[in-house]
Amino acid sequence: MSQKPSAPLTMPLAGYPPKSDEALAASAEAFRWTMATRRTVREFSDQAVPRAVIETCLAAAHRAPSGANQQPWHFAMVGDGAIKRRLREAAEEEERSFYSGRAPDDWLQALAPLGTDSEKPFLETAPWLIAVFGARYGVAPDGSRTKHYYVPESVCLAAGFLLCALHHAGLATLTHTPSPMGFLNEVLERPENEKPYLLIVTGHPADDCRVPAIEHKPLEAVASWF
Ligand SMILES: Cc1cc2nc3c(=O)[nH]c(=O)nc-3n(C[C@H](O)[C@H](O)[C@H](O)COP(=O)(O)O)c2cc1C
Repeated sequence: MSQKPSAPLTMPLAGYPPKSDEALAASAEAFRWTMATRRTVREFSDQAVPRAVIETCLAAAHRAPSGANQQPWHFAMVGDGAIKRRLREAAEEEERSFYSGRAPDDWLQALAPLGTDSEKPFLETAPWLIAVFGARYGVAPDGSRTKHYYVPESVCLAAGFLLCALHHAGLATLTHTPSPMGFLNEVLERPENEKPYLLIVTGHPADDCRVPAIEHKPLEAVASWF
């Protein structure tokens, strides 16, 4: 017979001081305009960014919600030049085969307005690369597997928090998905239960950085109200 779980421990909620509607609107507006300037950047400066800044942004990302509070993410931060070079070489190898045959035409057409190609110099220029992994399952101390729930949803929420934190700090980001990404496990020595999701490139944008002149859909096209 299954045992009824005991009542969970609780504690008082902190961090939501009462706010007037005007204060809510002002906070929402300020954040909206902060996020309005976020762009994916592909031209980075080699200016250093203190590790402490990245750590703080990571701490913000780690506050993301997760399925059954399993926090199935792992972030691997790379600031070492030799490892960045290995990642660039591996990514460019995959991307060369993607752009010169593996990618279907319609995919290449969708990418055309972005001007991307197989060259990824930013993987060496930018001061930090952050590989985001999701654990498909957990491993108990005795080596047995534990089930993880909602891994992609949880990992992508944490990655989204990280992008917001980096942007809010004043850093540029690129959400990179070299395809396939198995080389990230190999180079960064992550176990086989971890699936690589994203390689986030971050740092200061290059002085003369330009970005594709693309538009976001109007909000009405992606929202409905009931
Ligand atoms: C899941 C995902 C994968 C992406 N992969 C790449 C990539 O491999 N290379 C790249 O240059 N941009 C990549 N991007 C960035 C998108 O191209 C970019 O977000 C989109 O064009 C909108 O531009 P914006 O971010 O400047 O608004 C990716 C974005 C997402 C969300």
